[in-house]
Amino acid sequence: MRNNEKTALITGATSGIGKEFARRFAALSYNLIITGRRENKINMVAEEIRKEFNVSVEVIIVELSDANELEKLIKTVENKDIDVLVNNAGFGLNAFYDEEDIDGLLKMEAVHVKAPMKITHTVLKGMIRRNNGTIINVSSDGAFLLAPKNTIYSATKAFLKTFTECLNLEMKTKGKNVKLQALCPGLTRTDFHGKMGMDKSRQVDKGMIKWNTPKFIVDCSLDALSKDNVVCIPGEKTKVLIGFLNLLPRKSYYKFMINFFKKNFNKKESKSA
Ligand SMILES: NC(=O)c1ccc[n+]([C@@H]2O[C@H](COP(=O)([O-])OP(=O)(O)OC[C@H]3O[C@@H](n4cnc5c(N)ncnc54)[C@H](OP(=O)(O)O)[C@@H]3O)[C@@H](O)[C@H]2O)c1
Repeated sequence: MRNNEKTALITGATSGIGKEFARRFAALSYNLIITGRRENKINMVAEEIRKEFNVSVEVIIVELSDANELEKLIKTVENKDIDVLVNNAGFGLNAFYDEEDIDGLLKMEAVHVKAPMKITHTVLKGMIRRNNGTIINVSSDGAFLLAPKNTIYSATKAFLKTFTECLNLEMKTKGKNVKLQALCPGLTRTDFHGKMGMDKSRQVDKGMIKWNTPKFIVDCSLDALSKDNVVCIPGEKTKVLIGFLNLLPRKSYYKFMINFFKKNFNKKESKSA
């Protein structure tokens, strides 16, 4: 194992975008602390990375919606120098707000809002002291593209985007070299939609719907970091779509989205990320 000095903490690295971030920071010689819940799978990811990149990989199994488990994670990392934090863990739901169990919705708030807030608060102090650090918060195009059956998903992802942008303003105001990024991917082929019951055969490009790979998303994120772009929306098509739809008067936007949703997603499967 190399004696690396840099450490990246990545939540939700069992699969998809988090796993890709883990591989990329390992390739840049970072030691890793990765979290997840599917124990066998994340241990396999860790072993694969150790062998391929010769870095140390610590695995922490944590249910981030559980306050006690989150506290254990905080205790494990609070005395470590974390150079890169990727708040990536997240999940989707697929029901109208009134039809969804309130506990599931509050769990989403805990994973997408409380956990990133607490983890960031813990590692930011060291980053400020060392005047060096990077925090990537994985938001979503859902922060911009408001849609039915995405109410708490969009609301929590919009929180993450605003949180990131404001924190960036604070770091710049204080003159601190802590880079912030809100990464806002569109549809990406990971385990995310399968967990919501969407068949892989439905994950195909169609009209304005375009599926990306985790590799593409992480390429865009790292490129945006090198350019100091705080909000990263991977893919030209997604950028144009968000720009165009947000130019519409709100009533026209609502009409468009309701029709688009009914036509494309008002089935059992999930619709958007
Ligand atoms: N895929 C998309 O289309 C898309 C689009 C926009 C944004 N995003 C965002 O990208 C991020 C990564 O998602 P992904 O697409 O890569 O999905 P994924 O393959 O399902 O990975 C999600 C990761 O988050 C972890 N996680 C989920 N709920 C958790 C909880 N309650 N406690 C602890 N860990 C939890 C999972 O752990 P286990 O699997 O081990 O349980 C897994 O490691 C999410 O924040 C998602 O909202 C995804």
